[in-house]
Amino acid sequence: MTNTTFKPCDLVIYGALGDLSKRKLLVCLYRLEKHNLLEPDTRIVGVDRLDESNESFIGIAHTSLLAFLNHEIDETIWQKFSQRLSYLKIDLTQPEQYKQLAGVLDPEQRIMVNYLAVAPFLFKNICHGLQSSGVVNADTRLIMEKPIGHDLPSSKEINDVVAEVFHEDQVYRIDHYLGKETVLNLLALRFANSIFTTNWNHNTIDHIQITVGEDIGIEGRWEYFDKTGQLRDMLQNHLLQILTFVAMEPPADLSAESIHSEKIKVLKALRPITERNVEEKTVRGQYSSGYINGKAVPGYLEETGANTSSTTETFVAIRADIDNWRWAGVPFYMRTGKRTPNKRTEIVVNFKQLPHNIFKDSFRSLPANKLVIHLQPNEGVEIMMLNKVPGIDGNIKLQHTKLDLSFSETFKNSRIFGGYEKLILEALRGNTTLFLSREEIEQAWIWIDSIQSAWSKNRITPKAYPAGSWGPLASVALLARDGRGWEE
Ligand code: BG6
Repeated sequence: MTNTTFKPCDLVIYGALGDLSKRKLLVCLYRLEKHNLLEPDTRIVGVDRLDESNESFIGIAHTSLLAFLNHEIDETIWQKFSQRLSYLKIDLTQPEQYKQLAGVLDPEQRIMVNYLAVAPFLFKNICHGLQSSGVVNADTRLIMEKPIGHDLPSSKEINDVVAEVFHEDQVYRIDHYLGKETVLNLLALRFANSIFTTNWNHNTIDHIQITVGEDIGIEGRWEYFDKTGQLRDMLQNHLLQILTFVAMEPPADLSAESIHSEKIKVLKALRPITERNVEEKTVRGQYSSGYINGKAVPGYLEETGANTSSTTETFVAIRADIDNWRWAGVPFYMRTGKRTPNKRTEIVVNFKQLPHNIFKDSFRSLPANKLVIHLQPNEGVEIMMLNKVPGIDGNIKLQHTKLDLSFSETFKNSRIFGGYEKLILEALRGNTTLFLSREEIEQAWIWIDSIQSAWSKNRITPKAYPAGSWGPLASVALLARDGRGWEE
């Protein structure tokens, strides 16, 4: 994690004219340039099937930055950045066309980092095309985006194809949540602070909540989303990844091997949710029309391109249990949805109530401490605790207060980078710690497939919730049954 030496890399983006490349990758690369984080020799090669020249591709990159960078383009930085860009026209389904790569790249002297920003059905073609063109060697890297399959068999199929050409340590599977500053801060919080290391278990923690809500709806990708659903789109990856960081045992060090192996143990210890308990452990929801920030928005079935009989979920709430020594009896409640009242990603660690209360004048029952970790929009950590209200009137009066560590306030001079920027940089540095191993992804699918199949066998269809709310009432009931409530 501390390796800061760059080697000359050629970052080859397959699908360079696509949405992901234009909206995210080029913008992130420009930002890295701006902060002098790209090694001087790094080159960026866009690959796609349309007939573009180097010049026209550079023009497309400029237009993308104008559209998606939320500040002005700095001319000096752009000049430097645009000199790194070139374009190759390759029909990715035609193996012989990959030979062109050999004419542009120099895999003996430079590291080839291949970014698959394309639909998964092309992964196989690309792996085989690269292999047959002779450009792959032990230094070559492959970056893959989710979805890596839609269930265990399809994920295995993709991973098998990749494994024919690349060793596991050459493969960088991205979950952009792992590049978010606060997810990484979990490692620091948990393993560098004794107040947390010693209290991070069933003795002191009552339960943990993970919330990932987005006020946006489906944003023109109804067809993709409808085949996927919120369970596979968000929970299988982002929420389970957060869960592993919260729940894992202390790794021996920060190496990819140590971190991956601890995360896998958590995923393996997740208690299966099956037809027998799916109704009491999960809630499926689908948004109907409603209001977000006072503005009327359509329901999921009224979105452009919608199939009006769809039963795909846009909201999921789950009670997960981790069957190991540390977490026995501590539920992890996770919820994620589209069209929630606002964008909010947070982890709330609820500590146990104290066994006896000597401050009955202030509270009949003492509220328990909480640690709230905000991932977005405002990164930071808060501890909810009780303090005495200053005064000399004889009574001790307590008040609920918070210790607030907002990152933007505390680290005023540090820029907080986005997940993609961090991860692209780590891939260029050759550090796989923040990427997912094959086993992690497959283990996550095992748990998710069981829920998906239980929903379908028990014919559990989503309950409607109005856009602008935190899901169906059943989500409240999920916690209320255990005598708890969501953090609001
Ligand atoms: C993506 C999902 O992985 O994450 C999208 O496919 C979702 O549906 C997005 O909107 C959320 O990412 P972020 O970083 O905005 O929370």
